[in-house]
Amino acid sequence: MEHKTPKKGIFNASVLQNRAFSDKYSRITFELEKKAKTIFSKAAAGQFAEIEVAGLALPAQNSIPQQLTDVSQRNVILRRPFSFADVVTGKDSVVVEILYAVVGAATIRMKTLKTGDKVSVIGPLGNGFSLPDKKLAILVAGGMGAPPLVHLSSIIKSQCPDTEIVVFVGTKSVSDLAFFEVKADKFDKKKITLGEFDRHKIKAHISTDDGSAGSKGFVTEILKQWLKENKPDINNTIMYACGPEPMLRASAAVSSEFKIPCQVSLERRMACGTGLCQGCAVKCIDKKTNTEFYKLCCKDGPVFWSDEVVWQ
Ligand SMILES: Cc1cc2nc3c(=O)[nH]c(=O)nc-3n(C[C@H](O)[C@H](O)[C@H](O)COP(=O)(O)OP(=O)(O)OC[C@H]3O[C@@H](n4cnc5c(N)ncnc54)[C@H](O)[C@@H]3O)c2cc1C
Ligand code: FES
Repeated sequence: MEHKTPKKGIFNASVLQNRAFSDKYSRITFELEKKAKTIFSKAAAGQFAEIEVAGLALPAQNSIPQQLTDVSQRNVILRRPFSFADVVTGKDSVVVEILYAVVGAATIRMKTLKTGDKVSVIGPLGNGFSLPDKKLAILVAGGMGAPPLVHLSSIIKSQCPDTEIVVFVGTKSVSDLAFFEVKADKFDKKKITLGEFDRHKIKAHISTDDGSAGSKGFVTEILKQWLKENKPDINNTIMYACGPEPMLRASAAVSSEFKIPCQVSLERRMACGTGLCQGCAVKCIDKKTNTEFYKLCCKDGPVFWSDEVVWQ
């Protein structure tokens, strides 16, 4: 009888470390139970996990940021989706790293997780980025969109060694680069490098909306400038983008202007994460017939080709 390996599952995970960089940003690592190893070791960058948060306690009142005082009191019934910043497979285990921003009732509770605590994780879910068969991969990360692109860059490095990677990272301000290991230049405070990419000798171009690090302006502006100056071979180039929807829309426009194929990772509020509740629709277009239809972000995505999405 043919035995099919399940592609996802529900697993127990133990917290190895949960470290806050600031009130807003934290990095958590989980070790998954042994039976998750085969499945998770094949996880693609851009895939995600749904984490159970319902049983977690709230932190002490005085450590809840004022803007979250009210929302933090809400019940958290549904699991929450998070993509992987890294998946490391050892001999007997698999360790998943997640970078998360504290924005509401669930993520403030995640801050209370300590080493040894157990959580339930469903994953890996959705379809991630496809690996490049091109010579140049351009990664465009906006704010909280960084984690899956950090994962993608290390997978490309190990599995596609002939592909050159160039990264563009944009955030509102230097403090929002907290997802990265930021190394500041001794003489020029705006000139910084990002440890995750530096380690792999990947050039990261940085922009901030307020000019507090790198160039001032949107990440898609420095991307466009770079494309004009460097004129890469478009037949041998692919773009990958993850971040807020307006930034993805702008990346899709750059992709179309320069005729470079582009995959984008979209975000939707997710309940089931597996295609059952139909709550995460993404409007798409069939280019041959010019008809619009819906795909599900959790099951068909979260990664889509930028030209199949109807940008609102
Ligand atoms: C596929 C996928 C991967 C993700 N990966 C990460 C990750 O790696 N790191 C990370 O920090 N976050 C990630 N997120 C977002 C994360 O799921 C939400 O921040 C989290 O669910 C918020 O839960 P909460 O109860 O704390 O806040 P909520 O009270 O649910 O929301 C707080 C605020 O955040 C907004 N928000 C919440 N979820 C989303 C969403 N999915 N899209 C747009 N706005 C949203 C709400 O509108 C609200 O303003 C991902 C989301 C998806 C769909
Ligand atoms: S979250 Fe339920 S169908 Fe996508």
